[in-house]
Amino acid sequence: MNDSRRPTPPVSIGLYVHFPWCVKKCPYCDFNSHPLKGSLDEAGYLDALINDLAASASTRPIDTVYCGGGTPSLFSPASFSRLLDHIGATDDAEVTMEANPGTLEYSDFTAYHDAGINRISLGAQSFDPRMLDVLGRIHSGEETERAARLIHSAGLSNFNIDLMYGLPHQTVEGAIEDLEGAFRLNPAHISWYQLTLEPKTEFARRIPTGLPDDARVADIEGAGLDRLAREGYVRYEVSAFARDGFASRHNINYWSFGDYVGIGAGAHGKLTTPEGIVRTSRASQPRIYLRDQAESRTRIDPDEIGVEFMMNALRLVAGVDWQHFYERTGLPLEVVRDRCDELIDWGLMRSDRLALTSDGFRHLDAVVARFL
Ligand SMILES: C[S@@+](CC[C@H](N)C(=O)[O-])C[C@H]1O[C@@H](n2cnc3c(N)ncnc32)[C@H](O)[C@@H]1O
Ligand code: SF4
Repeated sequence: MNDSRRPTPPVSIGLYVHFPWCVKKCPYCDFNSHPLKGSLDEAGYLDALINDLAASASTRPIDTVYCGGGTPSLFSPASFSRLLDHIGATDDAEVTMEANPGTLEYSDFTAYHDAGINRISLGAQSFDPRMLDVLGRIHSGEETERAARLIHSAGLSNFNIDLMYGLPHQTVEGAIEDLEGAFRLNPAHISWYQLTLEPKTEFARRIPTGLPDDARVADIEGAGLDRLAREGYVRYEVSAFARDGFASRHNINYWSFGDYVGIGAGAHGKLTTPEGIVRTSRASQPRIYLRDQAESRTRIDPDEIGVEFMMNALRLVAGVDWQHFYERTGLPLEVVRDRCDELIDWGLMRSDRLALTSDGFRHLDAVVARFL
């Protein structure tokens, strides 16, 4: 370990590209997504993204690209081809695009594949028509199944399905039936999120009736975790489950406090610079971003770096090794050592690496709060 007290910039970086429009805003969603009014100016947005990318160009190789939203699949394969040519990611880069099963204007996934996309994340949420209705989704379970068939036949077998649980009036059996629906589509990865009521969303303003209580949510979780494991989906992060070799490299980079550039309306980035670790952001209103892609930078207060690191790394089931803390934060381990020792004594943290025990993982929020 050197003692320069400077974080080591990671060799490679990830790139997040935000697409801020959706056909309609879902009532639970607090992502930077705006209902599309009128026609989509694909070329105009692509110009802005390419300008943004050129200004934020890093000399470090980009080995993961994540096109998220909003609904990136509203954009054509030709637009992705143009964008990915400009990005010039490494040959073995993981390149993900989020797709909404209800917006398959461009249902030819082969064309997306040819453009350079090699991983799809499909927002299924549920297969139960009543749940899809409460969630304000614009598609049916059958449309999700159709999208999955098209994705497989385009050779994009590295795909993820997003599901949510803890939905209004949902039973344990209903939540498991949703998982069974996902298994039938044979995805390489499943993201299984508990519905959260995010401030300023329609659900926070008018709380839906019939939300399961904590005991039922715990039962759903217990049964779901067991079913996912039996199906061969290994949990590697709080909400992420993958078949062997299909964990999301892009997301692991976030959780292990790696560097990434974020371009597009409202996109966030994190970079290790000679001035310290900085967070970057862009205007979130698409109208403003289209005019001006200027980046804002905020240096993370060195006193907060340790807890930020822990909030991310401890979400990973395997955690990270001790050395990684020093490399990414530039801080000596002593700044967290006492709290780690305490958590190790209580059986919540492992002693061989920065990782939680299964007991600690069940109390993740409380454990992370110890570092505040
Ligand atoms: C940006 S969206 C993904 C793609 C696409 N926009 C769609 O909805 O089909 C990311 C995922 O986060 C999850 N999500 C969004 N809001 C959530 C909330 N309030 N609680 C839990 N999960 C949520 C959903 O599973 C969603 O698919
Ligand atoms: S489609 Fe996805 S990003 Fe758009 S509003 Fe719904 S959950 Fe949010």
